[in-house]
Amino acid sequence: MQSCAAQQVDAKLTNAAIFLVITLKPGPRNVAPCRDLCGEMASLVRAVGSRIPEGTLSCVMAFGSDAWDRIFGAPRPRDLHTFREIEGRHRAVSTPGDVLFHIRATRMDLCFELATHVMERLGDSVASADEVHGFGYFDSRDLIGFVDGTENPTDEAAAEATLVGDEDAGFSGGSYVMVQKYLHDLRAWNALPESEQEKIIGRTKLSNIELDDAVKPSCAHNALTSIIEDGRQLEILRDNMSFGDAGKGEYGTYFIGYARSPHRIEKMLTNMFIGNPPGNYDRLLDFSTAITGTLFFAPSADFLAAPIV
Ligand code: HEM
Repeated sequence: MQSCAAQQVDAKLTNAAIFLVITLKPGPRNVAPCRDLCGEMASLVRAVGSRIPEGTLSCVMAFGSDAWDRIFGAPRPRDLHTFREIEGRHRAVSTPGDVLFHIRATRMDLCFELATHVMERLGDSVASADEVHGFGYFDSRDLIGFVDGTENPTDEAAAEATLVGDEDAGFSGGSYVMVQKYLHDLRAWNALPESEQEKIIGRTKLSNIELDDAVKPSCAHNALTSIIEDGRQLEILRDNMSFGDAGKGEYGTYFIGYARSPHRIEKMLTNMFIGNPPGNYDRLLDFSTAITGTLFFAPSADFLAAPIV
């Protein structure tokens, strides 16, 4: 049982999301607006969300390792660190990010309105921001055409997979969050026969059925991201969204994964980028390039409302 209420880490999957990553300018003066915003966040979400209650607006606010020290100081979440680049056949880059706002709703206007209020409060204390507007593609598919999110844990299992418990009691109800912005080479991907694409993902494309172990390669995406340790499957909760710019020929998937420990996400990334065993890497990466990568910690809603500083 968690002693602290979590932020809405397991909010219902929606059709619209904004992934807003900001970096704070140096100097103590630039920390105050962000610290003030923490306490105000819940009421801001209520205020904007109440304009269209059925729009299920939610926002998770999470902090990078350096930002944690600047904003809250000690104590700090046990496993929070700057994401360490992983390099094998392909590279999982590590890019800057102090605060993540994962904003979700059924409508983009709600997401955008909340992002506007957030940025208004942060004002010129922010040095840069990366903002991705994600959308749910047909039948919960990503832009490579596969249904994404099928094996996500739900309800109790989602809480068990994502929320810190007694292992770091001071931060129970919190969750580690990893984001990566991927760009797809859709021309090359679409030139592959469907049967090859299915072997890369490990599921059938149209009917979304998991491939039988007899035909699924050990480098399939869903094989390399299934982590079993001490007889237990270490799950994470994903809410990937599509984004793009048709005019520029840019097609992407914004990966976001929540977990009670960064270890399980990093293990998945190691299997994908280096391979398991090394060399047996995820062929999805021959068609998808990670251009960002940042680890954050989303403290419990209780902590956010009244941070211990
Ligand atoms: C499964 C797409 C990146 C972790 C899947 C599935 C698809 C998919 C289509 C199968 C259906 C499902 O269960 O959701 C993608 C795309 C990515 C991406 C397009 C980026 C280009 C990642 C990353 C991670 C990850 C970076 C982890 C660090 C998982 C996990 C599963 C999964 C845990 C479920 C495996 C199982 O069957 O137990 N992904 N994914 N994915 N993916 Fe990804």
